[in-house]
Amino acid sequence: ASVSVIMPAAGSGQRFGSQSNKLFAVLDGKPLWQHAVDRFQHRGDVRQIVLAISEEDDSTFREQIAAISSAVPIHLVRGGATRSESVRAALDQVQKFAAESASNGTATKTLVAIHDAARPLVRQVDLDRVFAKAAETGAAILAAPVSGTLKRATSHGSDTVDRRHTYVALTPQVFAIDVICQAYARDRGRMATDDAQLVERTSHPVQLVTGSADNLKITFPEDLRIAEAILNECRS
Ligand code: CTP
Ligand code: MG
Repeated sequence: ASVSVIMPAAGSGQRFGSQSNKLFAVLDGKPLWQHAVDRFQHRGDVRQIVLAISEEDDSTFREQIAAISSAVPIHLVRGGATRSESVRAALDQVQKFAAESASNGTATKTLVAIHDAARPLVRQVDLDRVFAKAAETGAAILAAPVSGTLKRATSHGSDTVDRRHTYVALTPQVFAIDVICQAYARDRGRMATDDAQLVERTSHPVQLVTGSADNLKITFPEDLRIAEAILNECRS
């Protein structure tokens, strides 16, 4: 399959609390967003990467992209006020490219992989496995089994959620292009915190592929310290 990667990068990183977008925070000598791009750009199956960015960050992204050499084209689109809107903008671009290559007679089965630019540590083996599962079934996401005991607040106190079948959703979330485009087309405006939710609502089953819990999302400043520690461990 040939994979188009969508990276929502148009947030502001409020919880991270820095002056500029957290994606410009430096981890091991390069900005966070570039780690995410680098995990995908050398793969033979990735054809392009589409970053959804905010107007405010436009010039910084352009400068930083110009300073690196990428093995695949990196396209920029204007993101929206929510993550879903940012993904939708990038998806429109990916659809256009797919239509162009179809009319050129070069269409192969296109997968769309949606990956948070704020996840710098996804492993190649996990990408191999989730891409393969999506190629086979049309929809697959990385997910990590919940390790703690899960509680639900109730009106009288709490109860315990059976964690045996419980996972935390990670990214990338990978779909056949038709599956994700249909899900976004029928769900204009409804809230979702990930993309698989929209596909679940179309009743197309979404497969869970167990991924490494190292694939953390940088949300708070302390997450950057954890990511640094994981990178150092991988080197030793
Ligand atoms: N994102 C986006 N467009 C938005 C909001 C978020 O593209 N309107 C992106 C972020 O840039 C990030 C990913 O979605 O790469 C996951 O979002 P999150 O970790 O919540 O990042 P922020 O929204 O930037 O952070 P916060 O919620 O703390 O403000
Ligand atoms: Mg957010």
